[in-house]
Amino acid sequence: MQEISLHILDIAQNSIRAGAKLIEITVTENLKEDVFSFTVKDDGCGMDEELLKKVTDPFVTTRTTRRVGLGIPLLIAGAEATGGNVKIKSKVGVGTEICATYSHSHIDRQPLGDIASCMMSVISMNPDIDFIYTHFYEQKSFTLETRELKAVLGDVKLSEPSVALWVKEYVNENLTEIYGGAS
Ligand SMILES: Nc1ncnc2c1ncn2[C@@H]1O[C@H](COP(=O)(O)OP(=O)(O)OP(=O)(O)O)[C@@H](O)[C@H]1O
Ligand SMILES: [Mg+2]
Repeated sequence: MQEISLHILDIAQNSIRAGAKLIEITVTENLKEDVFSFTVKDDGCGMDEELLKKVTDPFVTTRTTRRVGLGIPLLIAGAEATGGNVKIKSKVGVGTEICATYSHSHIDRQPLGDIASCMMSVISMNPDIDFIYTHFYEQKSFTLETRELKAVLGDVKLSEPSVALWVKEYVNENLTEIYGGAS
């Protein structure tokens, strides 16, 4: 995968498949400590210890449509190529938290990519799931919370194209703001 936003989308798809009702996505960029990290936390079905130990293996999947699961192994490969790592915490019946850490300045760190479009797609395609997206850049941050959005929208659905576009613009505008105008 060429971009970290696509990994985020992919890891969030795992959460959706696990039946999550709330998915929290946090991106943290700390230049001083040279850290780029993201966390995807869900309240889905979770994994037992046996599966948890095996998920780093590309041949492990509970998918029935094909026999290889590559999402997590590819994520690990991308993070480790920069000297980073991936940590997975999971509990059956509670949920899963996956945290990928990269060296921010490493030449092989994939770019974040179009996270605004990724959030737009995942939110509009899953209007019944609550998402919280938070992005920290140095001292600045912003949050997009679909529960707040739903409260404002009333009867208007998150799957409405105009709302989806608003989500994308909201994320892009706030990214420009926290990046200090130059993204
Ligand atoms: N958030 C999660 N909650 C519960 N189980 C999970 C979660 N994430 C991953 N898993 C389990 O780990 C397995 C491996 O995940 P991985 O993303 O590596 O592959 P996959 O989703 O099966 O296939 P692919 O990502 O290639 O479409 C999944 O099939 C699923 O059983
Ligand atoms: Mg997957």
